[in-house]
Amino acid sequence: MQQTAPARDKWGSKVGFVLAAAGSAIGLGNIWRFPYVTGENGGAAFVLIYIFFVVIIGTPVMISEITIGRRAEKNPVGAFRHIVPGSAWWLFGILCVVTGIGILSYYSVIAGWTLGYFFKTLGGSFAQITTPDASNRMFEQFVANPQIVIGLLLIFITLTMIVVMGGVSSGIERWAKILMPILFLLLILLTLRSVTLPGAGKGLQFYLKPDFSVINAGTIGRALGQAMFSLSLGMGAMITYGSYISRRENIVISAGYVCLFDTLIAIVAGLMIFPALFAMGMDPQGGPGLVFIVLPTIFAKMPGGDFFGAGFFLLLTVAALTSTISLLEVAVAYLVDERKWQRRRAAVTMGALALVLGVPSALSFGGISFLTELPLLGIGFLDLANIVLGNYSLTLGALLISLFVGYRWGVARVREEIEQHDNVFYFRPLFAVLIRYVCPVAILCIFVYIVLTGNYF
Ligand code: TRP
Repeated sequence: MQQTAPARDKWGSKVGFVLAAAGSAIGLGNIWRFPYVTGENGGAAFVLIYIFFVVIIGTPVMISEITIGRRAEKNPVGAFRHIVPGSAWWLFGILCVVTGIGILSYYSVIAGWTLGYFFKTLGGSFAQITTPDASNRMFEQFVANPQIVIGLLLIFITLTMIVVMGGVSSGIERWAKILMPILFLLLILLTLRSVTLPGAGKGLQFYLKPDFSVINAGTIGRALGQAMFSLSLGMGAMITYGSYISRRENIVISAGYVCLFDTLIAIVAGLMIFPALFAMGMDPQGGPGLVFIVLPTIFAKMPGGDFFGAGFFLLLTVAALTSTISLLEVAVAYLVDERKWQRRRAAVTMGALALVLGVPSALSFGGISFLTELPLLGIGFLDLANIVLGNYSLTLGALLISLFVGYRWGVARVREEIEQHDNVFYFRPLFAVLIRYVCPVAILCIFVYIVLTGNYF
């Protein structure tokens, strides 16, 4: 459904928002990031803490962001200017825009790898990958090739720009609707293959049997950051998407669905990776290359592996695309709403910026040794960006959202916005407690705990 000016573009159907928001939330965060972060942080205990944070922090912050967006019908900067005029809250909107472009820059590098693996599978590269070592070598050679990774980054950011130029309902929504369900089916299929591999049991144990002795401040901070990242929270993506939602929709229910789907997919992705990983005798602490090394070994061991492999990497690329669209859309909506830029010009400029910023991340896996292991920190450039922007900046964003809603704007306003057209604000008392006390206190405690123990990275 197209709308004509001056009305703002809106999601085209009732399920449009849930699909688009789920499209934003479900992406590499679930399938690439969740398994490797879980692997690095000890498995099942981390997963439990993660789920706990999705429920007590993720869901209320999600409801808050969507509500702010729908009330203001604006990008994050404009939204704060509109609902608390004259205050300094719009500066938080700027932080959102900056964080979004920063995340977009390195996220697109990984999305480029996914696309590259799609081409590799099509070319039959995985037929001989029967040992983890061979898979490892192939990955290392691939990511260390500057022309290839930068070329793929360029292709991927260009795709993102094209969709964002198309606008909300015609561009973003249409993609999400068709492709997400297919990805889910393929994920289930690969999980079935993985859990039936001989030796899969150890992986299931690692993933499902908690050992709390591995938990420390770093682990807890990483679980919270992962929850924010995976749900696309803390940088105004849901404020922006919420600004296109109809007043008839029940925000609580929509937010609930998005959180549920997103968590489900992450959990299934873990079930796909860990049994195979242990069956092959690999190391769960494999870092950002984890899924790219584990998955080819599953494809090599299943009938029609090339076909499923190619399909999987293609759909993962699409899932990444429905996420990068939301990362770029925040900056674009800001430039269009506040600075009166044309959508096309905004998308191209911000996309180009993300491309330039993405280059050091692209070169941080052997392309340039300085970036592969940064002096003093000992981690790669992409890792650093992923922790600073994809963890701490988002967590800070979630803290600010909860303080804003809890103490500046007020739960009464949230209620007013949600309870239109006979909609019920389910769990309102619980929401009030979570957003006013639980979210800010928990996040602050975690920050303090991390600082005191020095578990930053
Ligand atoms: N949530 C997406 C994923 O899991 C990534 C993403 C899209 C994101 N938009 C975001 C993360 C906004 C943080 C903020 O892949």
